[in-house]
Amino acid sequence: MKSLLVGLAIFLSLAAAQVAPPTHPMPAAAALADRPPMGWNSWNKFGCDIDENLIHQTADAMVSTGMKAAGYQYVNIDDCWMAKERDAQGNLQSDPVRFPHGIKAIADYVHSKGLKLGIYSSAGTKTCQGLPASLDHEVADARKFAAWGVDYLKYDNCNNEKRPAIPRYTAMANALKATGRPIVFSLCEWGENKPWTWGRQAGGMLWRTTGDISDRWNSMIHIMDQQVGLEKYSGPGGWNDPDMLEVGNGHMTFTEYVAHFSLWAMLNAPLIAGNDLRSMSDTTAAILTNHAVIAVDQDWGGEQGSLVVNDTVAHTQVWVKPMKDKSKAVLLLNRGTTPTTISVALADLGFTPSSKYVALDLWAHTSQGLDEVLQSGVPGHGAAMFVVKGGR
Ligand code: GLA
Repeated sequence: MKSLLVGLAIFLSLAAAQVAPPTHPMPAAAALADRPPMGWNSWNKFGCDIDENLIHQTADAMVSTGMKAAGYQYVNIDDCWMAKERDAQGNLQSDPVRFPHGIKAIADYVHSKGLKLGIYSSAGTKTCQGLPASLDHEVADARKFAAWGVDYLKYDNCNNEKRPAIPRYTAMANALKATGRPIVFSLCEWGENKPWTWGRQAGGMLWRTTGDISDRWNSMIHIMDQQVGLEKYSGPGGWNDPDMLEVGNGHMTFTEYVAHFSLWAMLNAPLIAGNDLRSMSDTTAAILTNHAVIAVDQDWGGEQGSLVVNDTVAHTQVWVKPMKDKSKAVLLLNRGTTPTTISVALADLGFTPSSKYVALDLWAHTSQGLDEVLQSGVPGHGAAMFVVKGGR
């Protein structure tokens, strides 16, 4: 009997080992972008000044800084990874000086860290930096990306020969699907043809809604303003993308970066860091890894956050995002340059006024009981962010 039990135990443990997930589980296609993708991309900080050492070191830093633990997963190489010419067989190849060991070796390294690799091309004859791109090469290029172990493709819009966008993006989506490898497909169409209305059908899982962000308060706010009205197009499997983060790149203040990160979380934006992870300050890391704010970004409560109060005289706004558990994330934004106090009535947040609500401050990590209003001091070019829930 005893040996029978031991045999059974061995059998069960072997069976468990058989069904244990592999170290890098491949998500089913439907679940690929069920939450806004999180990762890093080389463009905002490094432009074309990239090489395989940077990518290796960034993957290392993603782990050592706590970014991976906070949910960041994709290490994305933007423009300028490819050689000036295709190879003799007509395939894309990596720049022999910047990436001498090829993309497959980088993918293997990134995967060995439990992370995923992203790459870049354009739905045009050349990338925005004039390098070979994928228009009319979709099938061959998608096969290459899959063979290299690529997990994410950002697909730009430069040099598109004025051909219509939907077929250009759909061709690559179909080519990626045909490889059988789950690859996140990111449409970088800059919002030119309202990709929020067709991006999902064309196979996109996120779509840029605007032109490029730059590391300035006015650029960030201008992009945020263009998200108003797009809420209804966003959701699991297809996200509005207000462009990559500039947090930590040096031309905004700490307070401004807190506002930038908070706003992107309210918008369920893909959180793609764009700074140098290898040398980021503790304060930058504290912004990018704020678990409570990331949790708002990753929570799908049925609707992207939206603007509910816009005071153009006081230069203040209130943004609200419903959360799955019926609480609400609330962002008080001061667009002006001097400190102010922002108040919003619970009724304007969609709550029945009562004394049972509590507001958790996601940056100060404090909580306060509420009666009829949520109120907070907010610095110039700053934001305060709360989750308001019942239960007092
Ligand atoms: C476009 C994109 C940017 C970046 C550059 C690279 O401008 O919108 O995000 O990828 O091309 O050249």
